[in-house]
Amino acid sequence: MKKIIISSVLLASALFSADGYEVFQKNCVECHVEMMSKSEVVRQFKTLKAPPMLEVSDRLRENIIIKDDDDDIHRYLFVLFVKDYIQNPNLQNSMCHSAALERFGTMPKLKNKLSDAEKQAVAEWMYDRYENVEFK
Ligand code: HEC
Repeated sequence: MKKIIISSVLLASALFSADGYEVFQKNCVECHVEMMSKSEVVRQFKTLKAPPMLEVSDRLRENIIIKDDDDDIHRYLFVLFVKDYIQNPNLQNSMCHSAALERFGTMPKLKNKLSDAEKQAVAEWMYDRYENVEFK
């Protein structure tokens, strides 16, 4: 009985959870490239449509500051911000560099409506993907 319950819980979470990287590739990569160095960004500034995802992630990670040194809370707040931002991108909430905002403008509304699970997955992916990667 226990086994059946556990496997149905696993099945349910597999059905309702999304793959963050897949969501990124379908909905974000056309504007946010996954990886790029600072010097390459400078070189390609004119053709880029948005800051690379590494840069976005690094910047949010640095700007979201909490008093406790607790990675879980930090990740939680990061995810909350990203989910909210992609739902409603707007100048007031953007933590983007002013030079980048001037060049790219504010992020447009997403073409595809994402489910909560997809938003959650892509936001978590953004945090975890660049855990030990520095934008430099
Ligand atoms: C059509 C282009 C485009 C697409 C598609 C796009 N973005 Fe953006 N995004 C931008 C631009 C341009 C900015 C920089 C200006 C700004 O902060 O709004 C940005 C900024 C952001 C920011 C805010 C950064 C900050 O410092 O405040 C987040 C978070 C973000 N994007 C996440 C995503 C995610 C996740 C996806 C996919 C689900 C996505 N974006 C898809 C163009 C895009």
